[in-house]
Amino acid sequence: MKTETIHPAAFLTGPLELPGDKSISHRYAMLAALAAGASELRNFAAARDCHSTLSCIKSLGAEVAVNGSTVKITGHGLRGLKSSWRTLDAENSGTTIRLLSGILSGQSFTTKITGDSSLQKRPMKRVITPLREMGADIRGRDDNFPPLEIHGGKLRGIHYRMPMASAQVKSAVLLAGLFAEGETSVTEPAATRDHTELALQEFGAPVHTAGRTVAVQGMLAGNGNPALRPISADIPGDLSSAVFFIAAASLFADSNLYIANVGLNPTRSAILDFFKQMGAAVTVANLQSKHGELVGDLSVKGAPLKGGLISGSLVPLLIDELPMLAALGPYTEQGIEIRDAGELRVKESDRIAALAENLKRMGAKVEERPDGLRVEGRGAARLRGTEIDPRGDHRIAMAFAVAALAAQGESRTLDSACVGVSYPAFFSELRRLSGS
Ligand code: S3P
Repeated sequence: MKTETIHPAAFLTGPLELPGDKSISHRYAMLAALAAGASELRNFAAARDCHSTLSCIKSLGAEVAVNGSTVKITGHGLRGLKSSWRTLDAENSGTTIRLLSGILSGQSFTTKITGDSSLQKRPMKRVITPLREMGADIRGRDDNFPPLEIHGGKLRGIHYRMPMASAQVKSAVLLAGLFAEGETSVTEPAATRDHTELALQEFGAPVHTAGRTVAVQGMLAGNGNPALRPISADIPGDLSSAVFFIAAASLFADSNLYIANVGLNPTRSAILDFFKQMGAAVTVANLQSKHGELVGDLSVKGAPLKGGLISGSLVPLLIDELPMLAALGPYTEQGIEIRDAGELRVKESDRIAALAENLKRMGAKVEERPDGLRVEGRGAARLRGTEIDPRGDHRIAMAFAVAALAAQGESRTLDSACVGVSYPAFFSELRRLSGS
């Protein structure tokens, strides 16, 4: 197993270019596979998760050509997918299995899809329930876990009141809605990322948002809008990857980081407001809209961080950033508290347990709770370098690599290759920018 040594740093300085946004890359790839013709996606995510999506759509008959970070996908229309003789492998990617479940529910064939040992422990009932209501026949282990066997068929539109705030569930239902009769709509209890809605619009699907409800019209029943159109797009850099570097730069007074072309979709950018509220020196420039997605450049300097509380409707907007915020806790004045975030226990790892364990190993004062944790601020402890066990979870590995930069003594990340799930170049970029 590959390990990575992290040395204490004194600054984080330089320009950084980020690989494409993971959430947008998944969605563009799936919709391109359903479009009639060739799409060109530039700055496609380097994330292994998104390449799992590419393998799956390839097995389903889309043509996929990868040339560096440019991906060409040729779809054969909404009815153009073919049954795959092999079981699809979503590997570590919850977005791949959940969103594809929606698409596969509308096909006239059966598909088996599974993933790695982490994905096989993640709940799928949340997508099985609404997709069944639409008419799909889906079987899973214990009616909840992968492998899933999806017998697609004729679907009917439903109105789904989503019990949890999940962009993946919303997206699965909306994608199935493309194949359903009539209108399919989803009402979410709190705002979640809206990349699916924006991408559907870009590909020409009849989608409409009103408040917390998104509706899509089925496209198969001769409503004069029969095909998704291919797109040619530059995918913005991934803000959730940028966050680790924003956090690292904030830790050192002498930092000066510049990140061009970052996705700043308002359903993702609450993290920047939270950093600013904590006292971080983050500025945004050159804001523009690309394919309905906001994009801009970020500059970050070092600044003392106050800490704070994340709870309620803020949780889904910061969901992937919570590991980094928790690991920053011991470097803040008041510490970090996270509530209402039980969802963290069913991510790529049980992130609450993984955070508490590794924070304690570094000497932090932490209280683990069923739905979150409380991490004491800089008055309570001085972190020391240690061995970090990310439990195979990319965001835990990256969060603690950043925390290790400001600890006393060096740290060692076990299974460091797990960062490839979202950001293969993470450690080399961290070394470059911290001059180590
Ligand atoms: C994602 C949605 C979130 C997030 C995940 C990516 C997406 O999951 O944690 O990393 O691309 O839709 P949930 O929708 O399950 O909260």
